[in-house]
This record gives sequence, C-alpha cells and structure tokens, in this order.
Amino acid sequence: MKTLLAHVGRLFTAGQPVGEKVDVLLGEGSILAIGRSGTLPGAADAETFDCHGALLTAGLVDAHTHPLYAKARLAEVAERSTGASYAEIAARGGGIRATVRDTRDASWVELELGVRERLQNWLQAGTTTVEAKTGYWLEQEGELRAVRLLHALSADLLLPELVVSFLGAHALPEEFDGRRQDFVDEVSGWSGEARREGARFADVFCDQGAFTVVESAQFLRAAQDAGLELRIHADELALTGGTELAVELGAVSADHLLCIGAVQIAALARSATVATLCPVTALAMGRTPPARELVAAGARVALGSDHNPGTSGATSMSMVVWLAITELGLSVEQALTAATLGGALSLGLADRGQIVAGKSADLVLWDTDHEGGFGWSPDLRPLQVWRAGRICLADPSR
Ligand code: NIG
Ligand code: FE
Repeated sequence: MKTLLAHVGRLFTAGQPVGEKVDVLLGEGSILAIGRSGTLPGAADAETFDCHGALLTAGLVDAHTHPLYAKARLAEVAERSTGASYAEIAARGGGIRATVRDTRDASWVELELGVRERLQNWLQAGTTTVEAKTGYWLEQEGELRAVRLLHALSADLLLPELVVSFLGAHALPEEFDGRRQDFVDEVSGWSGEARREGARFADVFCDQGAFTVVESAQFLRAAQDAGLELRIHADELALTGGTELAVELGAVSADHLLCIGAVQIAALARSATVATLCPVTALAMGRTPPARELVAAGARVALGSDHNPGTSGATSMSMVVWLAITELGLSVEQALTAATLGGALSLGLADRGQIVAGKSADLVLWDTDHEGGFGWSPDLRPLQVWRAGRICLADPSR
C-alpha cells in the first residue's frame, strides 16, 4: 500500500535546501519519491494524507539513553541542587550503584512496564529511533536479560525502534570492591552473548571515578573481537583520554565530551567517530560541550537525551534540539541535522535520517510550518509520526 503525504508546507532534510510545497510518496516502509505538490507520478493509487502546509522532517534519532532501570534517584537530584557533586554522591555508594541495587531487586514485569511507558514518551516528541543501553545490573545474567528485553521491545511497531548497547562496564559493582581487574576481566567476557541476545554496540563509562582508558580498552577490544561495534562515554567528568581511545579503536561514537579541547576536536574531525552530545546532562553537570567548534572542524555531531535515572529525565528530542540551539549555539539547521542524520550515523544506520527516496519512511509532521519552530519552543510537538511508513502516533484531531 502506498501513502501520499500531500501539501507538505516545508520539508527539512539534512544536507539539502529546505523544500517548499512538496508531496512525499511512501510505500512498503520506505520513501518512494519526493516532488512538487501535485506532480508525483505513481501517486494516483495511493491513500492521501493532507499535511495542510505543516513542516515535515525525518524521525528524530536519540543517540544516547539509559531507559531500563527501576526508579529515578530524585533525592540525589535535590542534593546536587544544593551543591553536592555527582562524583561525591557516587563515591559514597549513591549514583549508578544505587540504581544497580534497586534494579537488581525489581521484578522484570515491573521493569518492562516502566520502560514501555517511557518509550511511548519518546514518540510523543517525534523520536522514531532510540539507542538504549543496559548497565544497571553489572552481573552477567541481568545484563544479558536486559539486552534481550530491549531487543524484543524494538519489534513493537508502536514504540520507537531500539538499537541496543551492552553497557556492562558502567560502574564497578560493590561486590568487586578491591578487585577491579577481576571485574574488567569478567565483563570483557560477556560481549559474545550480549551480541547473540541482540546488542549491536558495546559501551563503557570511561572517566574519572569510572573506568580508566586501559580498563576501557581491554573491555572494548574484547567486545570488538566478539563482533560488537563500539561507543564510549568519553571525557565527561574529566579529560582522561576516552576520545582518543574512541578514535584509535574506530568507535562509531564518542559521547558527552564536556572536557575535550582542540586536540580531541581535531582528532574527531579527522575520524569517522561521531561526537554524540547530550545537552540535558551537560547543563545538569554545569558544563557544555564544544558543539560549534566540533561542527566548524568538520566532525559529525549527533544528539542524545541521555535519559537516565540520575541526571536526565528527558525523553523529548525536540527539547534536546531546542537546547542544542539555545545552549550549545548550533544553528537550527545544524541541530536538526545532528538529531536526524547525525543520530543515524552515530548508530551506524545508513537507512534513515534523511527524507530521500529509498530511505526508511520514518517521518514526523510537526505542529509548526517552519523549522525555526525548533529554536522557538522547547515543547514543539508532532502532529503525526510514521515509523517505517506506518502511523505510530496519530493526529487525534483527524
Ligand atoms: O550518561 N555517565 C554514565 N552514565 C550516565 C549516567 C547514569 C546514571 O547516573 O545513572 C550518563 O550521564
Ligand atoms: Fe550515558
């Protein structure tokens, strides 16, 4: 069955001039053709959806999230608001370790209900693809079961598509205190199974207070040997060398990058590693990444909500785009490019992120008639969302 999106007022797609007054023809999950309104051949037998002059973009891609956990650490957020630091709280057993305790204790039914509810929220703000990390078990069975659950949820066509990252090296679990190397050796052996359960990426928290570059390299090399692609939490809390490690290992993405300087920016720009920036956490940490410098140097940039139980409750990528414009200093075009094509690159997905013939029909019709709406409102909403050509969020007024 074919669908004609008629009377698109403006069509924003990365790397091309904005189209005005166009129609888009969809068929069998992908985009068939784009053309001036009323001129597309092959549209006669399509079901027509009138866009009434609204803005159409590719589905947004959230390239960094931690959506599977028992409960948010709201008391810590309140404490940080009066001066306590993320590192201090983590050092006394809070932070990731606190979520690990809660999550290990939670039932899988409860966890699945929680993550399903959250994932529906992503769609409400126009996100059709979400990178989703494990990392709140830090023991083999729980981590693998988390991979399996996230992978299975991706088949639900009324949720965003998920790309699963195995984040077994998120923190040192309590039972390994004083035995760091034992944990690194152990977690390095879980990637093969994580891949078989549906993970595409391995990820590591390479930072001060988390894992060193040497430990991270051991984990990531083992993951690469097991067939996983790589992404790294790099240089967020301190400049420890995660960005250079990402480039050296050919990681698909280096994330956060709050502390990087000219050397790391140049290294990213020379590489194919995507810089995935998370403005919500950046602001929660009180420091922003050098987004404009990365773009100016020619690095590829993506965006993530970094939804996690400690530092970001965000699920709205349209708000993340607004923050990228208003707080990171990107132009509307740069921010939207990062949230679509950049996100697709950050996840190694060549089939999406742009409205061009042949790509997946992941599309969002917005409640605005101009892409400037993304810099105007942190609360820009979709009218309708298509995932692979199927409506997954319907305009209630029709
Ligand atoms: O990306 N840095 C590590 N992971 C998350 C935080 C996770 C947590 O605090 O639970 C992040 O910011
Ligand atoms: Fe993270």
